[in-house]
Amino acid sequence: MEIKVEKGRPEKYSCELLLLFAFESPEPLEGLLRDVDLEWKGFISALIKRGDFKGELHECHLLHTQGALRVHRVLLTGLGKKDEFDLEKWRGAASKAGQFIRNSGIKQFVFPIKSFKGHSEAELAEAFVTGLLLGVYQFNEFKTLEREKIKEIKEVVLLGEKEIKSIGDGLRTGQIISEAVCLARDLVNGPSNEVTPTFLAEKAKEIAKNHGMKIRVLEVKEAEAMGMGAFVAVAKGSQEPGKFIVLEYNKGKGLDTIALVGKGITFDSGGISIKPSEGMERMKDDMSGAAAVLATLQAACRLRLPFHLVGIMPATENLPSGKAYKPGDVLKTLSGQTVEVISTDAEGRLILSDALAYSLQYQPKAIIDLATLTGACVVALGDFVIGLLGNDDLLLKRIEEASSKTGEKAWSLPLWDEYFEYLKSDTADFRNVGTRAAGAIIGGVFLSKFVKKIPWVHLDIAGPASIDKERPYTPRGGTGAGVRLLIQMLRDWKKN
Ligand code: BES
Ligand code: MN
Ligand code: ZN
Repeated sequence: MEIKVEKGRPEKYSCELLLLFAFESPEPLEGLLRDVDLEWKGFISALIKRGDFKGELHECHLLHTQGALRVHRVLLTGLGKKDEFDLEKWRGAASKAGQFIRNSGIKQFVFPIKSFKGHSEAELAEAFVTGLLLGVYQFNEFKTLEREKIKEIKEVVLLGEKEIKSIGDGLRTGQIISEAVCLARDLVNGPSNEVTPTFLAEKAKEIAKNHGMKIRVLEVKEAEAMGMGAFVAVAKGSQEPGKFIVLEYNKGKGLDTIALVGKGITFDSGGISIKPSEGMERMKDDMSGAAAVLATLQAACRLRLPFHLVGIMPATENLPSGKAYKPGDVLKTLSGQTVEVISTDAEGRLILSDALAYSLQYQPKAIIDLATLTGACVVALGDFVIGLLGNDDLLLKRIEEASSKTGEKAWSLPLWDEYFEYLKSDTADFRNVGTRAAGAIIGGVFLSKFVKKIPWVHLDIAGPASIDKERPYTPRGGTGAGVRLLIQMLRDWKKN
């Protein structure tokens, strides 16, 4: 989809479709809606008076102008109650309008942008583009039948009245972030026979090359030589070679270093502690953390954010085999600490323990890890919430603020000392699982043992990483959870 900015008036513009938004019971009509209504001799206000369009959130009403305006059609989309409006509703409405236009087979539309309700044009443009691009996302790579029936919007014109530079800035930012989210979605939606650890490493190399970032991919042998006993134990069970991927973006000297660590299990069968087969196909999404890290680095680099970012993505399958690690095994981690394996299905925290320990060499100001770590987190918070656990209030606050801005809901869970009891082992320093109680917290508590005193937050994205029921601007499947949140946190970093 090509999106461009032009200067002009909506009531004079010639195009396939003009998109307009309206609040619930918008009488009298305001702003651009009023201008178009006047040009159209009161057609829209009459329609609203008759009750044919109420302006309810996500309501779409398509009108044919029959030559009364220069555009062929007008799509009215509802924004709901005016006093309940926020950018999250705006993104949802942009998505619903986009989906309606696409599903109608219309390939081009124009949308006039004017600041309202205290939001600048740049802000509105960014959120509009984000909602639109994320809402019309589809994953069709493996569909070979009836490809001609796949519908797509080809061209969008954002229309500004006077100053169009700020609209262009908002557009570009929204595009860069949305493209990153869609990259993460593609990787999550890709099946595990395509999206292997090698595939992730190649993708990371390609991104590094295209954007001038530094990359290092460690083979399992090298990881073993370095002492990453936990990562290596998980990787051993599979024929598919594991890769320990380190991608680095550096905007300049003396900038804050932040380590982003993402769980990259490209398929989680549970290993010897094998999972029930029902629903196991979903476990291709167990690399969503790594996908989010990769996508965030791409976006941060394209936005030229002033940081030194280190993206660490341990990638491997978790499979049972004659070489697989077993319950009862004791692993020596890169940190030097030992772990007794109780369940080979608690593999995420194992590969992350080595990745977190690896990140310490960069002396980061903060470490943030993202992982589809526990089913318990989904039980606790639902499939639309990121579980947060961390050792630093300021970093947690940064994440929570970014969360409320982006609409990616996140909720923090406690990291009290009492929980460490659950991880005591008779034979090693810790066991890799506790009891069934407080599963999501125990996962975080385990990880906390590997970050020393560095400010750190763990994002359990097991729920929101991929979803069965669509949300306003998130279709079913991989969501790219965490990407917008991290980018927002980085954009606001200095303000805190
Ligand atoms: N990848 C899973 C977590 C998961 C489960 C993500 C369901 C999304 C949906 C993780 O590796 C895992 O298997 N966790 C175990 C931990 C347990 C053995 C302590 C779990 O949640 O059951
Ligand atoms: Mn598992
Ligand atoms: Zn897993």
